[in-house]
Amino acid sequence: MDAMTFVLFGATGDLAKRKIYPALYNLFLDGKLASSFTVIGLGRREIADPDFQASVKDSLKNFSRKPIDPSHIDSFLSAFHYSALNVNNVDDFKKLLGVAQKYESELGIPENRLFYLSVAPEFFETIADNIKASGLGDTKGWKRLIIEKPFGHDLESARSLQANLNRSFEEEEVFRIDHYLGKPMVQNLEVLGFANPVLQALWNNRYIANVQITANELVGVEDRAGYYDTSGAIRDMFQNHMMQLLMMVTMHLPHRSTPEEVRAKKKNIIKSLRPISKDKINTQIIRGQYGPGFVKGVEVPGYRDENGIGPDSHNDTYVAARLKLETPFWEGVPFYIRTGKRTGEKSTRIVIEFKEPLKASTFPDEVIPPNLLTIEVNPEERITLQLNMKDKNNSKHLEPVVMEFGGSSKETPEAYENLIYDALLGDSTFFAHWDEVELSWAWVQPVLDAFAANEVPLHFYPAGSDGPDAAHELLAQDGYKWW
Ligand code: BG6
Repeated sequence: MDAMTFVLFGATGDLAKRKIYPALYNLFLDGKLASSFTVIGLGRREIADPDFQASVKDSLKNFSRKPIDPSHIDSFLSAFHYSALNVNNVDDFKKLLGVAQKYESELGIPENRLFYLSVAPEFFETIADNIKASGLGDTKGWKRLIIEKPFGHDLESARSLQANLNRSFEEEEVFRIDHYLGKPMVQNLEVLGFANPVLQALWNNRYIANVQITANELVGVEDRAGYYDTSGAIRDMFQNHMMQLLMMVTMHLPHRSTPEEVRAKKKNIIKSLRPISKDKINTQIIRGQYGPGFVKGVEVPGYRDENGIGPDSHNDTYVAARLKLETPFWEGVPFYIRTGKRTGEKSTRIVIEFKEPLKASTFPDEVIPPNLLTIEVNPEERITLQLNMKDKNNSKHLEPVVMEFGGSSKETPEAYENLIYDALLGDSTFFAHWDEVELSWAWVQPVLDAFAANEVPLHFYPAGSDGPDAAHELLAQDGYKWW
């Protein structure tokens, strides 16, 4: 691992406290950070280094996966420094360059600089421009940029953001975090196919009836009305996380793929998505919004009654869709995707439903359940395979049995640990490449337009339910149900 300077914009923000500091600390405890490194936290307020270090320590107490190790905590915290910075002021960036150089020379480390923009997206372009204008980006080592979603608000704004970032960073230097790609079970999808000939042989339209990708949540809009009411589930979850899950589950990878090969495969998948024409949107996409209801027994308001949301908001808190891929492997297989807030469960999972087994003459009257391969991504992390066996007590019957593999544990690194580690190594396999981002915005754009023009019915569902009825009808039309 290279020695480096980790320059964190938004150092007092929620993401830094909940995810970034704990991730760095766990990497440190696992011996995955270089022995010399500096973290320069940046924010608007003036904060003295000891206070900053104390707040980092607090966040570790609250959010670290591993408990604080008293024998190592001080050496970890001593790498943390803070500088006040106004992102619009290039002189502040010049001062920051001096600060970075000072620590680099004190530690005797190369000018490897990772810039992490944990700030609102409206600051991305200004920060990138000022990194360049101040000379911070002219390093003798490497420079990298980590940015969080949202990457644009639609196709046009994403393209413009990309063009602007490219003034200061090459595509190879940009690491776009989609935290779903950091989830261990999602990373496992890469291996699942190529390392298991049994699955590889079945991973196509000959054996697979349909694929279902679900990301349901218990929470509602929380305190993010300003952002969420102009984004909706389609931008917040579908265009990024759900599309990434779709790509990860459908690409066929050779053993030991390079990041370039993974990107090429993912790009092929998203390019092969059948475009959705305006007149088909109503039959392929379900738009929903939660009404009042009970989530796990607790009464909660409907979306329109949430703080900061207008009484006539048409924003989507739920989206379900039927997608088709035009590739020889997947021709004819429907992909059903759904994501919703304030449903009755917190669950991200991928279910592969295999084609119906032939009816054996020994069981003429049985309805034989399909084989199901379920990949539980979150909060559970496990894979189950549902097979049919002879009922021990009644030889004329079959019974489904479920084989289970894996399970979550405190030993499993968090998504942000995996992603920050990869970015420090310069491995872009599990980051969203611009091509994928652009193509997924391009696919989604007609849906955004139809939602904005209110051309798609808005189906209400009670909070705590399994989404709108229309989402169930979408599968029933094809003879399936959500698993
Ligand atoms: C974020 C969305 O990207 O993902 C949130 O902005 C959502 O609205 C969250 O709640 C879900 O992530 P996870 O890891 O809890 O499934």
